[in-house]
Amino acid sequence: MSEQKPVILKIGGSAITDKDGELAAQTEVINRLAEEIKRADLDNLIIVHGGGSFDHPTAKQYGIREGYKEPSQKIGFAETHHVMTVLNGLVMDALIWHEIPALSLAPSCCMATENGRIKSFDRTTLETMMKMGFTPVLYGDVVFDEKLGFTVLSGDQIVAYLAIKLGAGKIVIGVDTDGLFDADPKVDANAKPYKHLTLEELRKIQGKISKAEGTDVTGGMAGKIAEIIPAVEQGIPVTITGATKSQSIYRALTGQSVLGTEIEKA
Ligand SMILES: Nc1ncnc2c1ncn2[C@@H]1O[C@H](COP(=O)(O)OP(=O)(O)OP(=O)(O)O)[C@@H](O)[C@H]1O
Ligand SMILES: [Mg+2]
Repeated sequence: MSEQKPVILKIGGSAITDKDGELAAQTEVINRLAEEIKRADLDNLIIVHGGGSFDHPTAKQYGIREGYKEPSQKIGFAETHHVMTVLNGLVMDALIWHEIPALSLAPSCCMATENGRIKSFDRTTLETMMKMGFTPVLYGDVVFDEKLGFTVLSGDQIVAYLAIKLGAGKIVIGVDTDGLFDADPKVDANAKPYKHLTLEELRKIQGKISKAEGTDVTGGMAGKIAEIIPAVEQGIPVTITGATKSQSIYRALTGQSVLGTEIEKA
């Protein structure tokens, strides 16, 4: 494995799908991101993508996050996993077409949760992929849960978990807004972006961050911030930027200044 610390990139479902639609992939965004990731040419990259309008509506309809209560949910669990593999297929198509040696790794096969939090992770395959110079691609998924039977595991939780476990050098989070604002910019036209936040500053504003309009079963922006705080506490810097805007992900991956929010421990 390269000596460089891993970089974890979250590609938000808000950016690669139309969250107001159903199963509505933004293939142009997916292709452009693949091109930017190829050009950034990082050795130790792990990609995690969200589900947007692929998984959230089905997961919500069947109450998957709340856990297994009745047999009629089983088809919903299966369908939620399946639609994620369909979106993942589109992401993999674009990455491989851009000659990135990307390999898909289903969280439902290597992770299990307890009350919604990752309890076990078989890291053998991921580590082998990295040692051999492949780019692992994970995604928000449905997983088996020791207490709930099953649940939804967000890409955001996977990002923070892997960053801490693998000692990542940084986390880059792409969404459909240019970073974190003092209010949801889609709701409040006067919302102001935060350019830089320390951990202490982030904690102070945390209570003000809303979720997101529409169907996000894993807490939207508020859920994302709650997940990344433990990683920032470990000294891992986080950049939140607009993945729908050309060059932002490329710039963030290559350590250049970017339109968005930089979060650092101090
Ligand atoms: N203070 C805020 N600053 C920026 N965005 C915010 C804020 N509050 C709420 N949001 C909303 O959060 C959304 C991003 O979170 P959301 O969970 O919907 O996307 P995602 O995590 O990229 O998608 P997925 O969960 O499918 O991966 C933005 O589209 C924005 O509307
Ligand atoms: Mg989300």
